Amino acid sequence: MRDVFEKKETISKWDDDYYHPISLWLYDRAISDMLRFMEITPGETILDAGCGPGVHSIRVAKAGMRVCAIDISKAMLQQAHLRAKSERVLDRIEFHQKDLTELDFPDAHFNYVFSWGVVIHIPDAERALDELSRIIKPGGKLALYLTNKTALDHKIESFVRFVIRKPKKGMKKLPLGNGICYGKGQNKLWVWRFDANAITEYLSKRNFRLVNRHIGELSQLQLRCKGLPRRALLKINNLAYSLNLPPHIAVGTLLVFEKRQNL
Ligand SMILES: C[S@@+](CC[C@H](N)C(=O)[O-])C[C@H]1O[C@@H](n2cnc3c(N)ncnc32)[C@H](O)[C@@H]1O
Repeated sequence: MRDVFEKKETISKWDDDYYHPISLWLYDRAISDMLRFMEITPGETILDAGCGPGVHSIRVAKAGMRVCAIDISKAMLQQAHLRAKSERVLDRIEFHQKDLTELDFPDAHFNYVFSWGVVIHIPDAERALDELSRIIKPGGKLALYLTNKTALDHKIESFVRFVIRKPKKGMKKLPLGNGICYGKGQNKLWVWRFDANAITEYLSKRNFRLVNRHIGELSQLQLRCKGLPRRALLKINNLAYSLNLPPHIAVGTLLVFEKRQNL
C-alpha cells in the first residue's frame, strides 16, 4: 500500500490536483490558523507527521518554527528536501524517514505535532493515532487535517449514484468512519472518510480534548473539472473558508486537540 507514495507521478499529480495557485491562499491561511489554534510561538519545534513533498513544513518553517519532518516515503522526503532548499528554510527543517504506525520517538517527546492529510491514507488509523498520542507531552497539542464522512460532496455523490443506479463498491464501514482502497498493485491507495466525532472520542480515551475544529477544503469536485469551472469551484472553497462555514459539510476539516495534564 506504500508503493504509490514512492512514485514521482504521485507528487506531480498532487501538485496539479491540490496546489493550484488559487488554492494556495487557502493553505497559507489554514496553516497560519492551525499554528494560532495550537498556540505555538516562533523558535519552538513542531513535528510534521507525514510531510509529503514538504509544502506545509516549509510554510511552518517560514512562520519561524523549527520543524521535524517525517514521512514513510524516501521519494517524498527527497522532494521535500529539494523544496526546502530552494525556499531557503533548510536550516529550520530536519527530515527523517519514519512510519507513523511505529515511531521510535520516546513517550512525551513533542509539545506540538501536526499531521496534514496523512492518517486518511493509513488503513490502521488507530495505530497511527495511538503513536501520535504517545509521543505528545501532557499539555501539548495535536492538529489533524482529515476528511469528513459527512461532507456535502459525498451526499451529492450518493445522490448521483442513486439516480444512475451505480452504487459505490468496496466502501467499508469501520468504527472510525468509512474506508476504501482505490487502484491496483503499486497504485493502491487507502482513503478514509472519517467520523470526526469517533476520532474525538477515540482520542479522548487517550487523554486528549478537542480545543478547535475548523473547515478545510469545502469540496473536491474541482478534481473532476477543468478551466473556468475548476477555477470557480476553487474560489468557492476559498470563500467557504473565509466565511468559516460549519466544518462538517466540508471534505476537509482541521481538528486541534490538547493532551490533558497528568493529575
Ligand atoms: C496526501 S500526502 C500529504 C502530504 C503533506 N502532509 C501535504 O499535506 O502536502 C500523504 C503523505 O503521507 C505519507 N504517509 C502515508 N502513510 C504513512 C505512514 N504510515 N507513515 C508516515 N507517512 C505516511 C505519504 O508518504 C505521503 O507523503
